[in-house]
Amino acid sequence: MKTLKFKNGDEMPAIGLGTWKSGKDEVKNAVKIALNNGYRHIDCAATYGNEDAVGEAFAEVSSEGKIKREEVWITSKLWNNAHKKEDVIPALKKTLKDLQLDYLDLYLIHWPVAFKPEVDFPQNDDQYLSLEEVPLIETWKMMLEAKKQGLVKHVGVSNFSTMNLEGLMEETSDYPEINQVELHPYLQQNELLQFCSKHNIHLTAFSPLGSGDRPDGMKAKDEPSLLENPVIKKIAKKHGASAGQVLIKWNEMRGTAVIPKSTNEERIIENLASAGLNLNEEDLEKIAALDEHYRYVTGEFFVTKGNSYENIYDDDDYKA
Ligand code: A2P
Repeated sequence: MKTLKFKNGDEMPAIGLGTWKSGKDEVKNAVKIALNNGYRHIDCAATYGNEDAVGEAFAEVSSEGKIKREEVWITSKLWNNAHKKEDVIPALKKTLKDLQLDYLDLYLIHWPVAFKPEVDFPQNDDQYLSLEEVPLIETWKMMLEAKKQGLVKHVGVSNFSTMNLEGLMEETSDYPEINQVELHPYLQQNELLQFCSKHNIHLTAFSPLGSGDRPDGMKAKDEPSLLENPVIKKIAKKHGASAGQVLIKWNEMRGTAVIPKSTNEERIIENLASAGLNLNEEDLEKIAALDEHYRYVTGEFFVTKGNSYENIYDDDDYKA
């Protein structure tokens, strides 16, 4: 399995298990299945509402004594209601408590958007804090502080456009080590990939399979299906693989990490096995032609009077 390497020599396994949309009752089992079948990278977040169940899985696997803590890469994310400097470390400590861990391998600012501390998901404009009120650099400095305190080994961001990355990089020489964004053949983000590669920022691909299990409210009426795409299906058939495996391998071959979500034993195992697939030049060329700048996770839910779409994504990525 490929790994992504960091300056201090740490390595993050390229394929990890995603836990967004995994219900509390299923995620514990999913994480245990994953770890017992070779996964060494689990992606979590406070807002997924299931970190306590993930923590139970970690505790049980660890008590069996077969897998050591330092062998597993664990990521979590700071929710948008804890961007103020006094809220970052308490939010991180809550995540550590829920996950039953002493430290995280990676902690990310989940979105370049801030809410008032008591708000989980805003219902109106008044529940946001503007970037003037809580600049991203203020939050970022506390992420660096968390690293200094040994609570996390690496820090990064998520859902950051090149514009938001540049904004942050103008104010600090401690750049994010990773940016986790939506990446798949319909949203290839080549410019962002180049920008991040130039500045030694790794990328992790979320929604690599198109996140078909998102709530209906987050879906466009006629959204295209990645798993049913005829080009992907044909390539999969040729290699005796599944469409999901082709989508996962494509990300891995581009040098990014990738975190397919599954709570199904067969698919959890199948997804990790994509590492063994070999896509050739011809396959890659065909997949390159599928780019539509299409976002499944549009971030539209964060567009308010005080928070324009351009604050979140670069213009040309937006297709509503
Ligand atoms: P399930 O959890 O029942 O396996 P994404 O990672 O893009 O968010 O996509 C997650 C969705 O894709 C879930 O509905 C998940 O269902 C499904 N899924 C996960 N792995 C595969 C696979 N190998 N083939 C088809 N669907 C998959």
